[in-house]
Amino acid sequence: MTMNFLNPVNPVTTQTWTNGRHQVRCVKVIQETWDTRTFCFMAEQPVMFFFKPGQFVTLELEIDGEQVMRSYTISSSPSVPYSFSITVKRMPGGVVSNWLHDNLKVNDELAVHGPVGKFNIIDYPTDKLLMLSGGVGITPLMSMVRWLFDTNAAVDLQFVHSSRAPQDIIFHRELAHIFSRIPEFKLHIVCERSDEMGEAWSGFRGYLSQAMLELMAPDFLEREIFCCGPTPYMNAIKRLLQENGFDMSRYHEEAFGATPVDVQEEVIENAEQAEAEAGELDVSDMLSVEFSSTGKSVRIQPGETVHTAAAKLGLHIPKACGMGICGTCRVPLTSGEVDMEHNGGITDEDMADGYILSCCSKPTGDVVVEY
Ligand code: FES
Repeated sequence: MTMNFLNPVNPVTTQTWTNGRHQVRCVKVIQETWDTRTFCFMAEQPVMFFFKPGQFVTLELEIDGEQVMRSYTISSSPSVPYSFSITVKRMPGGVVSNWLHDNLKVNDELAVHGPVGKFNIIDYPTDKLLMLSGGVGITPLMSMVRWLFDTNAAVDLQFVHSSRAPQDIIFHRELAHIFSRIPEFKLHIVCERSDEMGEAWSGFRGYLSQAMLELMAPDFLEREIFCCGPTPYMNAIKRLLQENGFDMSRYHEEAFGATPVDVQEEVIENAEQAEAEAGELDVSDMLSVEFSSTGKSVRIQPGETVHTAAAKLGLHIPKACGMGICGTCRVPLTSGEVDMEHNGGITDEDMADGYILSCCSKPTGDVVVEY
């Protein structure tokens, strides 16, 4: 099928984006820093990309003949809704990020799923914000900053970004521009070191510390906090906040580049072994999952998914995203109930017909699944 991407943007007829699978075309590639690029996308038919700043999309790619799903937070703002963008840093050994840098070009088409995500600024309204980002973890926060700037939001924002060296600061010029125009927005950048050759760094140096944070935002305990960066960075931030008695219900975080697809699922050869594994667990707490088409059943611990139960029996229900987005792992539930935390990968009709997404469905009692 030939896609027609030439329809002019028309604010009257343009549709709005809803969570689901969408075919999009790459319309621009921007080199942000030496190892980071922004990829901008538009839809086949003009679509207004409304989403909550901070949310993510999942790209459906084919790499070396294999389907790969990978999530990226959106770096653009829904205040500029005719396209959306993701910002990707090359990672040593990062199969998908490197593939995108090496292969994704203007005019390439691909499918995306989304937008979804609880890490967003709309669901936690506040007028005092602290945003903390490390490296390419800046992307969802950039979407939030752009949104707050474009909508003239009346918020007091302290933004603290940590980077390796000046040459690695993503969106540096745009941040400087935005933060120079709104007195209530304050930008603080921490660099581990100066560039090896080139720009010296005279600002905050090293790793973000409590002393630095107190200088930047002495009232940090009173703010709603959004944090995104590498796991060690976020762990250090959480420790700091907890030690200071911060109300952690006001702390929101997102790990960058993380898709729980790689969640390890042990395939245990038989059900007895699976039950033996449960060892000292109170047997009465365990739940039975029966797969009626294959006549196999297994007992699992509360909190385990139907997909995990199948894997324990060596039954491989197809799975791609592992997070309730793509619908690949859909199976009929013929008896019992599950707690399904999906991200839009199943329609209301399918649910009414008794289907569940096995990757994100946790039985709440004994269940029977057709597989
Ligand atoms: S694997 Fe994508 S929804 Fe379950």
